[in-house]
Amino acid sequence: MPARQPVGQAGSVRRASSHVPATTDGGRLTFRQDYFADPAAFAALVALLSDTFGIDVSLQDRFGGPDPTSMPFAYFDENGTCVANLSAFSMPMRVDARLVKAAGFQSGAVRPQWRGRGLYRELMRRALNWCDAQGFELGLLLTDKPAIYQPYGFKVLPQHQVSGPAPVAAKPVGASRPVFLDNAGDLALVKRLLRERTPVSSIFAVAAQVEMFLLNGCFDPGIRLSYLDQPESVVAWKSGEADCFRLLDVVGKTIPPLPFILAALDQRPRRVEVCLPPDRLDWQGMPEPFPSHTSLMVRGDAADRLRQPVMLSPMAEF
Ligand SMILES: CC(C)(COP(=O)(O)OP(=O)(O)OC[C@H]1O[C@@H](n2cnc3c(N)ncnc32)[C@H](O)[C@@H]1OP(=O)(O)O)[C@@H](O)C(=O)NCCC(=O)NCCS
Repeated sequence: MPARQPVGQAGSVRRASSHVPATTDGGRLTFRQDYFADPAAFAALVALLSDTFGIDVSLQDRFGGPDPTSMPFAYFDENGTCVANLSAFSMPMRVDARLVKAAGFQSGAVRPQWRGRGLYRELMRRALNWCDAQGFELGLLLTDKPAIYQPYGFKVLPQHQVSGPAPVAAKPVGASRPVFLDNAGDLALVKRLLRERTPVSSIFAVAAQVEMFLLNGCFDPGIRLSYLDQPESVVAWKSGEADCFRLLDVVGKTIPPLPFILAALDQRPRRVEVCLPPDRLDWQGMPEPFPSHTSLMVRGDAADRLRQPVMLSPMAEF
């Protein structure tokens, strides 16, 4: 059930983390948690994220709605406008060969007229308390403002893609075909494989999460999805510049080696860039810093043992 708690008193601003800053214009805010079952409240979040980031998360409706593990924390004004939000969601990870109970933090935004009053600090406090109570041992987020999250114990985990000459082509063992998420049959196929998947890397990879792969597949029209029949899998990839093949993710019970993938896709690039640790791809390249305006941050010691360069697949970005 959504939690409702009126907050805010006209004319005063309190900064203590256990209190919510009041409005200065006589309005009142209502704190709500776990409110996605309320269509009006969810639409208000869609508007907040559209106004703040220019993205349309209502696209998820065509895939069956938001991640059912999502736990949103938010403030709404008297008109039902969502003025601030932060959501946590479950994203089990394979980290250093171990299955780790991890949570992602996303959809963090405060409307401009409400910024600088401690709303986000309060939402962070509530979200982290909830995650700790749920027993999540790792927190993950992507941000262009790492300084905000350092006081809460988040550390930047540098990301490295792996690049090198393409492997010697294998003989094609199976067929491939394009997959389109706006085709109902293809969508059902991809969802099934996402639910059944083996993590694409044993070093650092998502173990189970469906919605972000589908949403990222829609957001970027440059991403190509291909179905391989042997072993049954879906490959997310891009044709990079200068005869380069960019591998973004592989979804299946069995991960095909990179030479098999290239043969099945009939790709003969000069170079390959792999946007994930390639330990299951039967190929090696050179790690190089991944150029990005966002930093991957982690909280919890589950990632401390990592000795090899890592990258979160772009299909898991949130
Ligand atoms: C970033 C944002 C969520 C902050 O919301 P806010 O309600 O103004 O933040 P708060 O007033 O609760 O401030 C919380 C803390 O973050 C710090 N902070 C706020 N904005 C910051 C920024 N841009 N860079 C670094 N620190 C920042 C504050 O100084 C404060 O620190 P303190 O607790 O030590 O006093 C808001 O400015 C926003 O929506 N920006 C656009 C979207 C965005 O960047 N979202 C985050 C993406 S990961």
